[in-house]
Amino acid sequence: MEERKIKRLALLTSGGDSPGMNAAIRAVVRSAIYKGIEVVGVRRGYRGLLEKQFMGMQSHSVSKIISTGGTMLKSSRCPEFKEKAARAEAVENMREAGIDALVVIGGDGSFRGANLLHEEFGFPVVGIPGTIDNDIYGTDFTIGFDTAVNTAVEAIDKIRDTADSHNLVFFVEVMGRDAGFIGLYTAISTGAEATLIPEVHTDVDDLCNYLVSERRKNKTSGIIIVAEGEDLGSAEEVAKKVKAKLPDYETRVTTLGHIQRGGSPTCSDRVLASILGNRAVEALLDGQSGIMVGQINGEIVYTPFAEACAKHNQINKLWYEIAHILAL
Ligand code: ADP
Ligand code: F6P
Repeated sequence: MEERKIKRLALLTSGGDSPGMNAAIRAVVRSAIYKGIEVVGVRRGYRGLLEKQFMGMQSHSVSKIISTGGTMLKSSRCPEFKEKAARAEAVENMREAGIDALVVIGGDGSFRGANLLHEEFGFPVVGIPGTIDNDIYGTDFTIGFDTAVNTAVEAIDKIRDTADSHNLVFFVEVMGRDAGFIGLYTAISTGAEATLIPEVHTDVDDLCNYLVSERRKNKTSGIIIVAEGEDLGSAEEVAKKVKAKLPDYETRVTTLGHIQRGGSPTCSDRVLASILGNRAVEALLDGQSGIMVGQINGEIVYTPFAEACAKHNQINKLWYEIAHILAL
């Protein structure tokens, strides 16, 4: 099949940043240059398309960024992009700058915007999943998830030390918007006593009965992971509810917050970002558009944005049960 002609490719990062986005930027820039394509970096996501925040990128522009967190192109949230007029302006600005195709690195919100550029204007666009939440359908892992869970695990291991020393029950809130991946993975790998994630309903009475149950009679401290998006509320609220029923318990709350979004990416995130970045450029050259590049069971998979946005990556409920069994 003949390659699609691309003279100039634009690249942006959008939505919440994630560790490994820089490695993906590097992979896209160098894969494109390798194919003789000029690269334009768009600063601050979709906002940069509207404000023509374009910068030429060479191979050396992405030197030494593979090991850094954040995104050198900066990210933003740009509500105006939900309006068709703004998207039309973005396409006009790209065409005016001689840009033939676009790579969007971001989460499902960013892919909704990208899909509209493809559907409404026939603009060639391919997505790379970059978010710590791991909630995107069409890939086993999103770029940044592995680093984020490792950061959370390191923090919780430290919390465990002080919880043990003082006989405290800690409620630790982890990120993940509406998805329990970070919660589940951190719970298994820190041996948390209980895991509260949005995908599994928890009753506060059951949680309290469990904390005082026979099976825990030799335990003097505990770690309860509360995923952001949990329907019982934030870690603070869950701690209050438990304290109301078990006033003798000494409780503490830690919200890990944005430390989970930063830091040097792990090897897994760097490799994933490098492979997906390269395949995104190749997908555009192959004539593809309106799709996200992911990896499932080690194979590269292309999923239409519409499907990637309509569905969600599902947690494995068996893993949730195993987390509970091993917390004995
Ligand atoms: P993420 O990409 O991490 O899920 P957001 O949901 O905040 O992050 O989306 C990032 C940006 O993508 C938004 O600020 C907006 O510019 C764009 N976007 C999100 N949803 C849509 C939509 N339905 N239509 C057009 N653009 C959208
Ligand atoms: O999508 C990534 C994420 O970190 C979510 O886990 C979290 O809900 C959200 O972004 C936080 O967004 P903000 O940085 O706007 O507080």
